[in-house]
Amino acid sequence: MRVLITGSAGFVGSHLADRYLADGHHVVAADNLITGSLENLKEARQNAAFRYVEADVTGDWAAIAAAVHEHMMGVDLILHFASPASPVDYANHPFETMAVNSVGTEQCARFALKHDARLLFASTSECYGDPREHPQREEYWGNVNPNGPRSCYDEAKRFGEALVFAFLRKRNLDARVIRIFNTYGPRMRRNDGRVVPNFVTQALAGKPLTIFGNGKQTRSFCYVDDLIEGIVRCAASDATRGVVVNLGNPDEREIAEFARVVCEITRMPLSIEYSPMPADDPGRRCPDITRAKALLGWSPQVSLEEGLRRTVEAFSTNAGRAL
Ligand SMILES: NC(=O)c1ccc[n+]([C@@H]2O[C@H](COP(=O)([O-])OP(=O)(O)OC[C@H]3O[C@@H](n4cnc5c(N)ncnc54)[C@H](O)[C@@H]3O)[C@@H](O)[C@H]2O)c1
Repeated sequence: MRVLITGSAGFVGSHLADRYLADGHHVVAADNLITGSLENLKEARQNAAFRYVEADVTGDWAAIAAAVHEHMMGVDLILHFASPASPVDYANHPFETMAVNSVGTEQCARFALKHDARLLFASTSECYGDPREHPQREEYWGNVNPNGPRSCYDEAKRFGEALVFAFLRKRNLDARVIRIFNTYGPRMRRNDGRVVPNFVTQALAGKPLTIFGNGKQTRSFCYVDDLIEGIVRCAASDATRGVVVNLGNPDEREIAEFARVVCEITRMPLSIEYSPMPADDPGRRCPDITRAKALLGWSPQVSLEEGLRRTVEAFSTNAGRAL
């Protein structure tokens, strides 16, 4: 199969590239490096079946089209993962975040139609905002502040979903949407502001862990290998055409409990520093994965403790991302 991955120098996109290459496919990876790093593609770039193109998916489609043509003579599957994804990143790049999920998604959809390719759009659990329903099922429409500090990301992803469905209904695009819940693992940037790299980096440096609010808010953390398996199955499935699928780990933990596990695994004494809760930070997050189980036969296999052990090892041996 010939696969185009946007955002492939990022955390999830680079693991996806490695997986498709390992499965024997050809991959073109497009990235503008706004939050990604070529370090993440070090192994992939050794592989003759891989081609990297530095390009912005909101505009540089001549470069992407040329790479796709020269390397693979076409494309069968487009995985649209380009987008700043951490609250720190999208606060720094609000316009770019909105552009890549709107214009970038439209461009991906048009390219998919032109090449008769399938499209998978990476959306997010942030579409549910600060949810009033728990756990979150795909049918839930969410509770999003349309102009709050997170809105550039949340609303951009919601708009991206709407675009994908418009292309599906009006142009018969073969498309599916996944809503990813908090995912972690090697290659996250230590300073990207997300809770896993924050806690692991602080614990390894022997510093207190920063908890926002009282630590009673919950998150469900999915190890990256589990997410990648879910994405590969979703992209390969005919049954997911025109369907939104939650991918995440339903093992819900309070942040304070999560801090305790991080300290246990890094063998550091538990020390906490409390900070005020950022605006619009969701109180609870947990995926209902009934649909992924039924359609894909998928559920996460890696426990939080095991996933954290692998992440801590990667961060302490520098296989995690440098600052
Ligand atoms: N990691 C998670 O927990 C999570 C959760 C929900 C959704 N997602 C989604 O998954 C995708 C990947 O997230 P991630 O955690 O790997 O983030 P990341 O920041 O590590 O990767 C995103 C990549 O997209 C690239 N990019 C951004 N704008 C671009 C543009 N206009 N043109 C080309 N490349 C561009 C960046 O340079 C980066 O390499 C994103 O779409 C994100 O919204 C991730």
